[in-house]
Amino acid sequence: MTLFKGIPVAPMDPIFGLGAAYNKDARDFKINLTVGVYKDEVLQTPVLESIKLTETILLKEELNKEYSLIEGDKEYLSLVGSLVFGSSFFEQNHMFISSFQTVGGTGALRIGGEFLKKVVCEEIHISDPSWPNHKGIFSEVGLLVKNYPYYDLNTNSLDFVQMRTYLKGLAPKSTVLFHTCCHNPSGADPSKHQWQELATICKERNLIPFFDSAYLGLGKTLGDDTYAIRLFASMGIEMLIAVSFSKNFSLYGERIGALYIYSNEIETAQKITSQIKTIIRRNYSNPPIHGMKIVKEILRNPSLRAIWEEELSLMRNRILEMKSLFVEKLSLRVKNKDFSYLEQTNGMFCFCGLEKSVVELLMKEYAIYMTHDGRINVAGLTKNTIDYVVDSIAKVLNRI
Ligand SMILES: Cc1ncc(COP(=O)(O)O)c(C=O)c1O
Repeated sequence: MTLFKGIPVAPMDPIFGLGAAYNKDARDFKINLTVGVYKDEVLQTPVLESIKLTETILLKEELNKEYSLIEGDKEYLSLVGSLVFGSSFFEQNHMFISSFQTVGGTGALRIGGEFLKKVVCEEIHISDPSWPNHKGIFSEVGLLVKNYPYYDLNTNSLDFVQMRTYLKGLAPKSTVLFHTCCHNPSGADPSKHQWQELATICKERNLIPFFDSAYLGLGKTLGDDTYAIRLFASMGIEMLIAVSFSKNFSLYGERIGALYIYSNEIETAQKITSQIKTIIRRNYSNPPIHGMKIVKEILRNPSLRAIWEEELSLMRNRILEMKSLFVEKLSLRVKNKDFSYLEQTNGMFCFCGLEKSVVELLMKEYAIYMTHDGRINVAGLTKNTIDYVVDSIAKVLNRI
């Protein structure tokens, strides 16, 4: 007899659930395109060379493993602040920006969400579709989560007209979550011109943008991928920014990220800092230090930084290469479908435009796993497996 009897089983995370089904699949040749991590050409997620070098330095120089400040390491936060906002903006405006080291990007979203619910607003608007955990995180803190139109599966593109109309109808102080780059799951990002329109709407309607930045440098360059944040900041738009270094530093398990809140008054920024520090103190007291020390060392040391940036561009280029090979090969095998839109997408994820019934057949008959909506992680493809994947898709599509 247990006092905990009667507790219901919680619903399984849809993506982790598919990963579990893949692991159980006993077939010799199976392909996992569901994973949310970068894979190299031999399907490994290796520790980057820049990280290994940095860890050797840390091993020699680290003096203690003491608790961090509640808000985290000041130098780390200013290096990351410069990366995200651009160094001159951050230097001139750091008094207006409340900065926190967080437990990955998820930690930043969660702390930011708790802050919004506690002292700012009742609702958050996320894209339809979005990373499934967005809904989970924000509803868990008590925010009402609503969807704004974002991606049209019929045209395989951003539904900007509907998105704009929806945002224009929001009440002042509504929070809107944007993916800074490499929208997950669609890979479809607004163009620079569309970001300018979105910034104008946010400014005119007094909306609060919350930028989720989990893939900086994996879509285009770091400068291009931070375009939206820098644009909004230059227009004086108050906002929240969640940053993750899981993917672009390949530091998944170290759980390192950051949260920035930009406000127009120094006094308000100080009040925000006090609120967030209380939230962090009550959740996990202070952040873990190892991942922070790695990222800090790489960002401040020019030679390590150059190695990391090179490794980041290798990851990005492999994604781009796989995407264009995928499109090229699919176009040769499947004549009645246009896949060229995939090359306009940014980052690891995109919808490959397959219906649920096709996705199910691919899983059942060919051991190819992707999420039910047809989202794939392009980094799950390699030069050795791409023909098998394309061939299987063609066979299923040509049969239906
Ligand atoms: C859009 C998006 N935001 C945030 C995260 C969370 O990143 P982290 O692993 O750093 O918590 C992810 C991870 O997959 C993501 O895809």
